[in-house]
Amino acid sequence: MSDTGNEQARKAAEALSYSTGFGNEHSSEAVPGALPHGRNTPQRAPLGLYAEQLSGTAFTEPRHSNRRSWLYRIRPSAAHPPFTRADNGALGAAPFTDSVPDPNRLRWNPLPDPAEGTDFVAGLWTLGGNGDVAQRTGMAVHLYAANTSMTDRVFSDADGELLIVPERGGLLLRTEFGLLRADPGHVALIPRGVRFRVELLDGFARGYVCENYGQPFRLPDLGPIGANGLANARDFLAPVAAYEDVEGPVEVVNKFCGNLWTATYDHSPLDVVAWHGNLVPYVYDLRRFNVIGTISYDHPDPSIFTVLTSPSDTPGLAGVDFVVFAPRWLVGEDTFRPPYFHRNVMSEYMGLIEGAYDAKAEGFLPGGGSLHNMMSAHGPDRATFDKASAAELRPQKVDDGLAFMFETRWPITTTARARTADHLQAGYDGVWQGLERHYRR
Ligand SMILES: [Fe+2]
Repeated sequence: MSDTGNEQARKAAEALSYSTGFGNEHSSEAVPGALPHGRNTPQRAPLGLYAEQLSGTAFTEPRHSNRRSWLYRIRPSAAHPPFTRADNGALGAAPFTDSVPDPNRLRWNPLPDPAEGTDFVAGLWTLGGNGDVAQRTGMAVHLYAANTSMTDRVFSDADGELLIVPERGGLLLRTEFGLLRADPGHVALIPRGVRFRVELLDGFARGYVCENYGQPFRLPDLGPIGANGLANARDFLAPVAAYEDVEGPVEVVNKFCGNLWTATYDHSPLDVVAWHGNLVPYVYDLRRFNVIGTISYDHPDPSIFTVLTSPSDTPGLAGVDFVVFAPRWLVGEDTFRPPYFHRNVMSEYMGLIEGAYDAKAEGFLPGGGSLHNMMSAHGPDRATFDKASAAELRPQKVDDGLAFMFETRWPITTTARARTADHLQAGYDGVWQGLERHYRR
């Protein structure tokens, strides 16, 4: 990626404005008069545009969970040539069958630097996942490392919604709905099937992606917490309409039932001049998360840190939760303050955006990740346990890191590629060795 390209992306990213509020009925027009009023499909849409609905849920799903948007575009999405199969690269999809589910605790260092000329799509690397992409259940964990902006090509994922978690390097996301900027510490949420292009703001980008095959992410219910708190709806930013009027070859890479397909359009499909609806991409600054914790003793289960949840058919059981460990005060009295030892029916993939995580003194690196599968025993390492057990319990600010978790209902089966990667750490179990016997009668 040339400096000029980065400069153009940076310039575009500086001037962005947004529409706010998760789940709102947003509307936007890049050209005055482009958005029809009073109906979705007038006999002739304004300005010679085509009207098209994008449905993220079945037409008949309950109103509170129904997601759809109306797009007014230069050409309908239907105007495209056939797709042909493309190389999947290191991108995989569930069910993962090239290795067996593993009860061992696993931890990876960051991805190695990619080859020159690797863009976001080419730089996707699948760690594992669960469920079945064709059944629209489960999820996949991907990482990405890129050093080149996508040019003359866009990506869409029919298999799921993409939660992008940048760890290094800012991203400019040019989507059908408009532009979003996601820097490290932010997350971007791209609905299933929405076309987008990723441009790099800093010449290099690395991070994580949760591909959610299941029900779209939503804000969790708050119960006794009340009407506010955790991730506040107003802090989610949706784009305003911005479109490309480009006649010329644009490659569209389409992920469908686990495979990549490609077609070269004779125009850019990012040609939506106006839109309205509640199926939209968002960015969210994780530092806006309103962290709730104890002001007496113990600490709540980490579900209290849930930013977004993809529900299943069983109340309270998430297909996948996205959880953030954001800066917070620890004040619990007579309390072991770091995350406790535990075994969990849910499976946990953790990543680190910056700094350190308060349950691991070392070895868990920004850009790396750990997997604690269903019922695998985990918790603080020995150094953390010793320190926290002896610490004087004054109010303490934990503000030197930003970690997150994808917590999912089913075990995560890793890809063979992830299981044999050079950056898989050997001897992760050593973290819990040397936890001495203290029992006495
Ligand atoms: Fe855990």
